[in-house]
Amino acid sequence: MEERNFTISYQSFKGLEELNEKDSALCLKAVEALKTSYSPYSGFKVGAALQLKGGRVVLGSNQENVAYPSGLCAERVALFSIGSEDPNAVIESMAITAKTDNFVIEKPVTCCGGCLQVMAEFEQRQKQEIVVLFYCINGEVLKVKGIKNLIPFLFEESRLVV
Ligand code: THU
Repeated sequence: MEERNFTISYQSFKGLEELNEKDSALCLKAVEALKTSYSPYSGFKVGAALQLKGGRVVLGSNQENVAYPSGLCAERVALFSIGSEDPNAVIESMAITAKTDNFVIEKPVTCCGGCLQVMAEFEQRQKQEIVVLFYCINGEVLKVKGIKNLIPFLFEESRLVV
């Protein structure tokens, strides 16, 4: 038996004021994305904003369905939207935030494993790490560079590409 360890690196900022201007603006774009959330079943709105190379920002929000598993997370809505519109776009960074009237969100909401797997694929496609910002409205921001720092044991199998 051999004990092995991963080291996961990320930064924590007390609030938007501690971030650089571009990151702070992207977090506010994620807040803007909350407006289009369709979440009548959970009441939990999630907003995502992608910063593309060249300056464009793409928004996405969670879209729920009465058949619950048919809904989609904000992160994947944003990623698949740009993936289908401009497959050559390069995502430099993405910001994610959440809001609900049902309770107080006290810390940044980090994304689900399914979204992380999709983020990893986009990163691998573009051969450039994606910076991820998790923003708790009026509070802490977590900044992570590279999806491997979020999902070290992601599913990878290069031989599946024919
Ligand atoms: N949700 C996201 O949009 N992103 C995540 O990473 C996790 C969860 C959404 C799905 C659903 O509409 C609501 O949050 C509650 O799970």
